[in-house]
Formats: sequence, C-alpha cells, structure tokens
Amino acid sequence: MAIEPVVYGASDRPPRGDYARAGADYTCTQDYAAYTAQDHDTYARLFRRQAALLPGLACDEFIAALPALGQRPEDVDRIPRFDEVNERLLRATGWQLVTVPGLIPEVPFFTLLSERRFPVTDWIRRPDEFDYIVEPDVFHDLFGHVPLLFNPVFADYVQRYGQGGLKAHALGACEQLSRLYWYTIEFGLIRQHGGLRAYGAGILSSSGELRHAVQSPEPQRLPLQLERTMRTRYKIDSYQSTYFEIDSFQQLFDLTEADFSPLYERLRGLPELAADQVEHPAALAA
Ligand code: PHE
Ligand code: FE
Repeated sequence: MAIEPVVYGASDRPPRGDYARAGADYTCTQDYAAYTAQDHDTYARLFRRQAALLPGLACDEFIAALPALGQRPEDVDRIPRFDEVNERLLRATGWQLVTVPGLIPEVPFFTLLSERRFPVTDWIRRPDEFDYIVEPDVFHDLFGHVPLLFNPVFADYVQRYGQGGLKAHALGACEQLSRLYWYTIEFGLIRQHGGLRAYGAGILSSSGELRHAVQSPEPQRLPLQLERTMRTRYKIDSYQSTYFEIDSFQQLFDLTEADFSPLYERLRGLPELAADQVEHPAALAA
C-alpha cells in the first residue's frame, strides 16, 4: 500500500533518493537510462493491476485521463518518459511534470506547485515492495497524481494549494494546511453516479485502499468541511479511518477560495481530532 508522508510527515529513515542529483529547486532530470528491464516490468504490472480495478471505484475524470500517460492502460509495458507526458499536459492545462529524487521540503514543494510544476519521483519500488512502499515512487506520483492534472478545475486547485502553502508557511500553519492536502489530493472521495468514487492519489495508487475507501462500511465518511478537515490528524502507515467527500471539483475549488488566515487563527484555539474521531451527529447538524 502506497501510503506516503507526502512532504510533511517526518520519516524515521533517511529518504531513498539521491539528492546530490538535485538542483537548488530540488528538481533533476529523469534518469531514463538507469531503469532496468525489471523496473519497467514492475511499473507495467502495477499499472495494469490498478487500471483493472478502477471501474466503479475511480472518478470519471481520472479514468478518462489515464491514456494521456502514454499507452493504452492494458498495453502499458514501460515507465513513461516525463517529456512525452509533458507535451500533452502542457496543451491540456499548462502543467508540467518535473523530476525530483523523492520527497522534498515544504517551501520548494509549494513553490513548484504554485508554478504549475508537479514534482514526480523517478525511481521505482523493488519487486519485494510491490504492494507496500513507505515513500512515494514513480508509480504513486505518476499514476496517482498526474491524470487529474489534465482536469482544468482540479489543476487550478493544485496550483492554488501551492500558493496557499507558501502563505501557510509564513503563518506557521503548514500542518493544518497539510491535512487539507491529505484529505483531498491524497485521500479525497467525490460523489458521482449516485455513489462514491475516489479522486485522491493515495487511494487510486493502492490496490487495497481503493476498495476500503470507496466500499468498506468500516471508515467514517464526512462531507468536506475546512475546519473539521484541518483539525483531523491522519495516519501515514495504515488505511485512513476517516475520508471526506466532495460533490465536484468546482465545489472543492470554491470551498478553498477564501483567505485562510482567520481560519488558521481560529484553529489555534481548537483541539486537534484523532484520525478515527467519530463525528457526533449533533455536531454535524450544528
Ligand atoms: N484560500 C487559501 C488561503 O488563503 C489558499 C488555498 C487555496 C489553499 C486552495 C488550499 C487550496 O490560504
Ligand atoms: Fe502523493
């Protein structure tokens, strides 16, 4: 399961990537020649297994954009060249992928997003990590995140998140804002076809969590509400206990449009909630 600490959760192990390759903005070039036949095979097997799981569980926009990663999902046999994806992505929404050695610090991460540049790790997990990896690799970053960057509204939301991140950093509110990233961009659910679908990359790139998030009676699912979401801690090493639902990407965009400064102020006086804190029905009605 590809649960990842994104840019925030401090890991107790040093990151795997070779950061000596990276420039001051943490970007480097995709080392395509370094991929082995086994690397391409790992990617292709992950891709084909995951693509087969999507119908009925992934949102329409994600499924529609998947071929833009380069090959028909059932024919995928290699890791894509980021340059090729970039030609299509630039035409669709003006976004670009940039290569990074792995997780990067908050400020460079927010800066890249604010410039419509999405950081993608280039290395791939080892075969013995097929079902679970603690850091994001090229499969999580590319398969999980990139298809929705072809959607204009979602693409704008991610840029605005980057701009908001730089502001949150200045206000000492990165942890609060990171929860919004976690519960939307990584683990968000959207209502479609009278049911639920996944749009979060952490769900979409995980074979186990996809069904858990969308169909299991176990987790709590709440309407996305900024204050509730930003108070809620999250789990980085197991399936989520709580998911937040939206009606549309436009709703997500509109909900996050206002200046968050007063919200950050209010959050300082409110206790955090555990990841599995069950919502009292009275509180929901209030
Ligand atoms: N509106 C937020 C702010 O003022 C910025 C933001 C937009 C954050 C979209 C997240 C997502 O800080
Ligand atoms: Fe991610």
